[in-house]
Amino acid sequence: MFANNLPSSNDKPSLYTETVTALRALIDGERDWIANLANASALLNQALPDLNWVGFYLLKDGELVVGPFQGKPACVRIALGKGVCGTAAATRRTVIVQDVHQFPGHIACDTASNAEIVVPMILGNELVGVLDLDSPSIGRFDDADRDGLERFVATLLTAIRL
Ligand code: SME
Repeated sequence: MFANNLPSSNDKPSLYTETVTALRALIDGERDWIANLANASALLNQALPDLNWVGFYLLKDGELVVGPFQGKPACVRIALGKGVCGTAAATRRTVIVQDVHQFPGHIACDTASNAEIVVPMILGNELVGVLDLDSPSIGRFDDADRDGLERFVATLLTAIRL
């Protein structure tokens, strides 16, 4: 669908602006939560370089359960407070890990992962899940990724009605 129109900027802020614009077009008029999350993960996987896993964990009955994603099959359930995802969910703050092997309690799903960023998804006051990106490159994620991905999540949440 976006094969000829992929985000392609070289600097991160512009790349994220293009990606958020592409997301808006994808979710425009569509209110199906799973459809939008599935396309959002596919878009990030195509638009952002140097990833080996990107997708969502959704809060269900007090724990995180894997949702739409791109990458290798992943661990299904993560308790709040556990791993990078559970830490971002419990603190409701974006967590950037330069080297996952140095993060106490990191949950290894794909041995290719060396760096990770997890952005909480908060609708109103309610935590609904997290967006998780993994990279094989140590130090892959920085504040520009945090800013861009938080913008991405905020846009995605405008299309979500639980
Ligand atoms: N590494 C994550 C688990 C999810 S996978 O990376 C897909 C964590 O520590 O929470």
